[in-house]
Amino acid sequence: MLERLGQFLTNKPNAAERPSIPDQNGEIPQHVAIIMDGNGRWAKQRNLPRIAGHRAGMKTVKEIVKAADGIGVKVLTMYAFSTENWKRPRDEVDFLMKLPQEFLSTELEELVERNVRIRMVGSRDRLPDYTLSAMELAESRTKQNTGLKLNFALNYGGRTDIVKAVTELVQLVQAGKLKPEQVDEAVISQHLYTSDIPDPDLLIRTSGEIRLSNFMLWQIAYTELWFTDVLWPDFTIQHFHQAIAEYQGRARRYGGV
Ligand code: FPP
Repeated sequence: MLERLGQFLTNKPNAAERPSIPDQNGEIPQHVAIIMDGNGRWAKQRNLPRIAGHRAGMKTVKEIVKAADGIGVKVLTMYAFSTENWKRPRDEVDFLMKLPQEFLSTELEELVERNVRIRMVGSRDRLPDYTLSAMELAESRTKQNTGLKLNFALNYGGRTDIVKAVTELVQLVQAGKLKPEQVDEAVISQHLYTSDIPDPDLLIRTSGEIRLSNFMLWQIAYTELWFTDVLWPDFTIQHFHQAIAEYQGRARRYGGV
């Protein structure tokens, strides 16, 4: 009843009428960013430890990378660990820090063959050696690849990203290499972790939370947002296709008419 009233007021189709298969001739978002949320709740529903949820979430990562590549997405950025996630229990942090190594030990060869280019987005400062060396190995093994750009946001925070850019710009101004009046949006973008990556066209967040959690705050100024109640370990290629199909139905006006 409420959904029907909502439909009447907003003129939006109900869930059953919403497109779920991308239009082959429609626009595929160049850059899709994903906040992979709900691993802990998925595990709790099954009386499993939280880390079991993260391991299940890693399987979803594998599937969605293939799905994004298959449909022609050019850049896929996955929020794997935020600057705030250090507050989690030590065991869970340790487990999350080991996941890149575990993931890459089984997936790297296939990703190399698929022509995927892997990058880490975030601060490298606090990461354990084994996490950083796994990421750096993947970056160097795939740096010549020209296919899907797969970014792992690891020890990433949107505010830290902006602080880093501001600090670098202040230093350049102090050194006389940049004039204050030269600072514009493009200059700020060039000093973010994502300097050579286009802004996301579509942001997906799973698990029913409707917030950004400090993810790419500058970069998502005009990104289309898509939220689902599905927990990340349950997120499938079909859900991914549904997000793309709904994106194709959006009118992006960038503040214009
Ligand atoms: C949020 O769910 C999820 C994370 C903080 C970690 C996400 C990591 C993965 C999905 C695996 C990453 C894989 C690679 C290859 C690096 P949550 O734990 O906050 O869930 P909850 O809100 O239900 O507790």
